[in-house]
Amino acid sequence: MSKSFKQFYKKSIKDRILALKDENLYDESLDLSTDPEVFNHIIENYVTTYELGLGVAPDFLIEGKYFNIPMVTEEPSVVAGATHAAKIIERNGGFKIESIKRSMIGQIIFRDVSDFEKLASIIKTEEQHLHQLAKEAHPDIYKFGGGLKSFKLEQKEFEFACLNLVVDTKDAMGANTVNTILERLTVHFRENHQLNVLMAILSNLATESLVSASVTIDPRTLKGDINTAKAIADASLYASIDPYRATTHNKGIMNGVTALMLATGNDTRAVEAGAHAFAAITGKYQPLAKWTLENSKLIGRITIPLNIGIIGGSMNILPKVKLSRKILNIQTAEELMKVTACLGLAQNFAALYALTTDGINRGHMRLHARNIALEAGASKEQIEEVVQYLIESNSISLEKALEFLKK
Ligand code: MEV
Repeated sequence: MSKSFKQFYKKSIKDRILALKDENLYDESLDLSTDPEVFNHIIENYVTTYELGLGVAPDFLIEGKYFNIPMVTEEPSVVAGATHAAKIIERNGGFKIESIKRSMIGQIIFRDVSDFEKLASIIKTEEQHLHQLAKEAHPDIYKFGGGLKSFKLEQKEFEFACLNLVVDTKDAMGANTVNTILERLTVHFRENHQLNVLMAILSNLATESLVSASVTIDPRTLKGDINTAKAIADASLYASIDPYRATTHNKGIMNGVTALMLATGNDTRAVEAGAHAFAAITGKYQPLAKWTLENSKLIGRITIPLNIGIIGGSMNILPKVKLSRKILNIQTAEELMKVTACLGLAQNFAALYALTTDGINRGHMRLHARNIALEAGASKEQIEEVVQYLIESNSISLEKALEFLKK
């Protein structure tokens, strides 16, 4: 654990920035706002930038190495939950990565396939040629050792067929790489075989980009000991039988995952869509992270598809994305996948721990009261006083805050 991050949450903003500087994790140019022209090139009809806070959840011990995790979120207590969970998990030996694989999937969808065997035979005979076309379409990815790895044709209902391609996009999320290869093959199928290709696009159900992580927690490190451990395991069991609860359980996981995706400039919608589809892949929507009691230890496991990257698109341009990379100190997309899965698991643990002990409101109350105080127009000096008043009066409302400020 690094000294600079000790009691990070108690430091002033200025001291937190100093802590980043101490760790050589801060670039002063990042205090300046980004040139609007940069955003004007990234999206259309740009008018302004939209601010959200970036916090750091320090000291995630993953496979013996410490990571500090940048998180961008609008929700109070997400970063606090992650930090609290990371501390307990560190005391229990940290996170383990169980398995990881990383490739993207692309789909070429054929329609009016009245003779599936004929299509299958074209694909089979042309195997080498299709690989060659993929290489010509995107020579750069082959230079880095990536490219089209394999493909498989599937017959579908209503005379559809789908060619599912597996592409190694190295450290990029790879949507452009995959789509470029798909579109080159599509032209070939249309022009040289007169096949009816409906469309070609990457799939966000990233079952070839899966990471599994786990933690083992000694119940003695939890308040409430074995009873809390049992309650957390029961909360997980319940999520597996009720999709209404499983959705909220998974939403808690995505609180962490999406916050890190935003901080690192990844496509949050791609990851969200993939995660929820994967949760339902058996036909029954399931929790992405599960907790069980085994030999009196609480074991947490998460498996999540993560179609994410560390290079490409606006990632190479946006200074705060670069800052996040620096804070994370990761070199590969696989490393980012591992950290993301662990953060998701930690976030889930934090939520279940709170829900099965104090309830969610206690932790939220202070942060909620702060937001209300700000909304009521409290000055920097008044905030703590207003928060204290709202908590003591047991009624955190705008009306109460305004009433106090007026007094
Ligand atoms: C709130 O953003 C997330 C939780 O609802 C997650 C959960 O219920 O597991 C607390």
